[in-house]
Amino acid sequence: MAEIIPSILVKTKKELLEKILAVEPLVERAHIDIADGIFVPNVTIGGPAELQSIETSLKVEIHLMVSKPENHIIHWSDAPVDRIIFHIEATQNTNKVIEMIKEADREIGIALNPETPISRISQYIDHIDFVHFMTVEPGFYGGKFVDSVLDKISDFHYFYPDKPIIVDGGVDLETAPKLIQAGADILISGSYIWNSNDIERAIEQLNQAVES
Ligand code: DX5
Ligand code: ZN
Repeated sequence: MAEIIPSILVKTKKELLEKILAVEPLVERAHIDIADGIFVPNVTIGGPAELQSIETSLKVEIHLMVSKPENHIIHWSDAPVDRIIFHIEATQNTNKVIEMIKEADREIGIALNPETPISRISQYIDHIDFVHFMTVEPGFYGGKFVDSVLDKISDFHYFYPDKPIIVDGGVDLETAPKLIQAGADILISGSYIWNSNDIERAIEQLNQAVES
């Protein structure tokens, strides 16, 4: 069954704690967005220190929207995260980044921006756990869903039916079923959940939308 994961994109530890506490009773995992102001035009918390100071039962994955992830992985070695996602567009040293995440004993996801073709990651697919398709331009909550990525996901799923697919950006009640149809296994949702007045209900509705 498809999994819905709330995304947390914040600038302070206080906001991080608030959002973690809000979803902790509702889901098993949170997706924490990390932005460096270089790879994307937005800056979030740095991440490792803030996460280490918070106790939570949630599993945590990080989505590194940072330039040169090879310079960042080391900082996450003691942080309570079990999955690290980095962008193929952000590094010239993809093999090195994969190696570093493997050595840190975390699951590996490679993210692709909406316009990046699958061919950019073909040679790495056997060495990673997930492919992470961006369906918005990365960096912010509330980006515009890029419809053309649906075909890219279907194509990828056709060629690599066993490789788990995460989709991130613009997930709502309308897009979620289309993404599952295209082959997605995990959907990350930010603004649809956080802008609703009842986040429990929003998560429930997303779960229902991907079941039917
Ligand atoms: C976008 C982030 C996403 C974002 C999703 O740059 O990587 O994880 O938080 O938010 P929505 O669902 O609002 O597109
Ligand atoms: Zn993300």
